[in-house]
Amino acid sequence: MLPYLLVSRSAEYETRLRALLGERLAVIPGEFLTFGPDAVVSRTNGQPRVALLGPVLNYEETKGLVEALAVKHPDLGLIVVREQRSDLEDWVDELSLHAVLSPDASDDTTLALLDRLSAWLVANGRAEVHDFDAPLALEVDDMPFVELVDESVGADDIAAVPEAEPEPEPAVPEWEFPPLEAGTPSEAIAVVAPKGGQGKTTIAINLATGLAEVAPNSVVLVDADLQFGDITAALALEPTRTIVDAVADVAADEIVLKTTLTHHDDGFFVIASAPSPELGDQVAPLALARLIERLRATFRYVIVDTTPGLGEHTLVTLEHVTDAVFVTNMGVPSLRAMRTEFELLTRLGLMPGNRHLVVNQTDKNSGLTIKDVEHIIGAPVDVEVPKSSAVLLASNRGVPLIHDDVRDPAAKAIRSIVLRIAPEAFPKRSKIQRRRRTSEPE
Ligand SMILES: Nc1ncnc2c1ncn2[C@@H]1O[C@H](COP(=O)(O)OP(=O)(O)OP(=O)(O)O)[C@@H](O)[C@H]1O
Ligand SMILES: [Mg+2]
Repeated sequence: MLPYLLVSRSAEYETRLRALLGERLAVIPGEFLTFGPDAVVSRTNGQPRVALLGPVLNYEETKGLVEALAVKHPDLGLIVVREQRSDLEDWVDELSLHAVLSPDASDDTTLALLDRLSAWLVANGRAEVHDFDAPLALEVDDMPFVELVDESVGADDIAAVPEAEPEPEPAVPEWEFPPLEAGTPSEAIAVVAPKGGQGKTTIAINLATGLAEVAPNSVVLVDADLQFGDITAALALEPTRTIVDAVADVAADEIVLKTTLTHHDDGFFVIASAPSPELGDQVAPLALARLIERLRATFRYVIVDTTPGLGEHTLVTLEHVTDAVFVTNMGVPSLRAMRTEFELLTRLGLMPGNRHLVVNQTDKNSGLTIKDVEHIIGAPVDVEVPKSSAVLLASNRGVPLIHDDVRDPAAKAIRSIVLRIAPEAFPKRSKIQRRRRTSEPE
C-alpha cells in the first residue's frame, strides 16, 4: 500500500518528493483536474493515509479535491503544498486542512511534518503505525492537527495560524422541543416587503406568537434581516447565540443548532440576527436556505423575517417557504414597488404557493381606498391592518401586540393573518388576558 499521495502540476516537486518517499509515494498528475476532482480521486488505489495537494493548484481545484477525497477517504490527512500568502489562513479554515507546507521547505522539514501528521493520524485512530512503514515521531497528543510549515516565516507566524478554538460543549437546551410527528406538514412563512419600514417585523413577531398557540414550542422565528435585524430587541430578549452560529458548520449537529435558539415565554423560539452588519454579510444565501430546511425538519412553523427588497437572501428564502406574507403600507411608491415585486416573482417562478397580501397601517385619511390599492398593485388585498398606537406601545414594552392588547383592531387584523395560515388558531382569551395582567406594570 502507498501511504502518501501527491496531486501536483509541478514535475520538479514530484521528483523531489519521490526522492524523499520512494516507493511509499503515489502520484496523480494535476492535469487530470481538467476533468474534475472525481477524475483524480477515481485514480487513487488502496487507502492513502496522507495526501499532498499542490503546488500549482488553484483554490477551486484544491477545494474540489479536498471534498472528493474526504468522501472516498474520510480519514485521510490533508496537506496543501503552497507558498506563504496572505490568504493562507482562509485556505486552512475553509478547506479543513491538516497542514500547509511550503514547496521550498527543506527535506528535513518536509519529512518531519509528514512524520508528525502520520503520528497524529495513528494517535487518533485514523491509521495504523505499519501503514506508513517508517518511524513515527513519538510525542503526539490528541489535539487537532493543523500546521503551517514554511521556513520563510518565523515561529511566531506559525503559531498564529492554527485550528479554530475548540468549541465549548453545547449546553443542553432546557426547553421541550415537541417532536414533529411523521406526516405533519411543516410550514415555512417568509415575511417580505419591497421597501423598508412597512411592518414586516411587527407581523413576523405576531405571527410567531399566534402560531405558538396552535403549536407551542414548535415555532421558530428566524431574523434574516441580516444587517439590521431587531426582533430580539422588540421582544426584550437577550440572545447568547445568533444566526451566524446557526449557519456555522458545527451547527450541523442538531443539539448545537438548538443551542443557537432563544426561547420566548409565549412558546416560540427566535434565531437572532447577526450581532453586526459585517458578520451578517458572512451568512451566505445558501447557508440561510439550508438553515430553513433544517428547521423545517424540527418545527411545525418556521417564520422568516427578511431584509427589505428582493436581495439574494430573500429570493433564496422565497424558494424554501410554503407561504409568503407581503407587507406594504398605503404609500403609492410602496404599492408600485409591490406590483413590480409580484410581477418579478411570478416571472422568476418564485411566488410561493400561498400568498397573503397585507396592507399595513391603513388610514382613512390616506386619500386612497382599498380598491385604489388593489388597482395599483394589481392583486386583491387579503388583510388590512389599521394604523394603531398599540403597535408601537407593544414594541416599546417588548411584548407581542396580539398578547399585549387583544382588543386592538391592529391585533385582531394580525390574528386574521394567523388564521389564514392555521385555520385552527383561535384566540384563547382567558389565557391571553391572564398573561397580560401578569405582565402589566404594578
Ligand atoms: N399597524 C401599525 N400601526 C402603527 N405603527 C405600526 C404598524 N405596523 C408597524 N408599525 C410601526 O412601524 C415601524 C416599522 O415597523 P417594523 O419594524 O415592523 O417594519 P419593518 O418592515 O420590519 O421595517 P424594516 O424594513 O426596517 O425591517 C415600527 O415603529 C412599528 O412599530
Ligand atoms: Mg424589520
